[in-house]
Amino acid sequence: MDSKIVDLEALKRMAAEAAVRYVKDGQVVGLGTGSTAKYVILALGERMKTGLRITGVPTSHETAELARRSGIPLLETENAWAIDVDIDGADQVDPQLNLVKGGGGALLKEKIVAAAAKQVIIVVDHTKRVPCLGNSFPLPVEVIPFGWGSTAKQLEALGLKPALRERNGQIFKTEAGHYILDLHLGRIEQPAELETRLNLVPGIVETGLFVGRTDLLIVGAPGGVEVQQGVRQ
Ligand code: A5P
Repeated sequence: MDSKIVDLEALKRMAAEAAVRYVKDGQVVGLGTGSTAKYVILALGERMKTGLRITGVPTSHETAELARRSGIPLLETENAWAIDVDIDGADQVDPQLNLVKGGGGALLKEKIVAAAAKQVIIVVDHTKRVPCLGNSFPLPVEVIPFGWGSTAKQLEALGLKPALRERNGQIFKTEAGHYILDLHLGRIEQPAELETRLNLVPGIVETGLFVGRTDLLIVGAPGGVEVQQGVRQ
């Protein structure tokens, strides 16, 4: 394996292990999705072996499966939860701790769980930090399949460039049965305004913009773990 890839994995794990230290006995924990969240679940599983008792709310089937294998009991996913802390990854993080998420297609459940949590901790490696959202990573937007082409045209009329996400030559479907349009944008100077504009387009279920939703950012960086406090709106 490429040594750079190995290093990045180590940084993700370092950030994840730092994040799980914030979890206290008896808490309900939102479990994110993705390669960094995976280390969070594994680290929580390790802590449970030495006496920690928690219950989890998973943000995807993949996460639920890993949580079960790690010995984390899960709450029913169709109830109203009292989530103490949600720990999740991100694709991009700006200096105000606004995020782009949804690279793995789990944005809808991730945003529902984040909104229901008292505290949101985001764990990333240092490459996810950007001066401004956009540019290098397309913004995922979840749309219902009905009339998705017309929804895409509405986005084009707003000057955006939607691309229907595919996987293995097939249209990618989210766990809710929706499609993803990836918007190739330049700099997202005003994420809150963009989120509002997108939410007004019929057919859009959710966007991968997480604005003012981060309480704490934990970054695995070559020099060690960096922690930054956010302002939840
Ligand atoms: C899942 O849909 C995403 O929102 C992930 O949280 C995000 O893509 C980060 O994933 P990685 O930790 O794998 O980069």
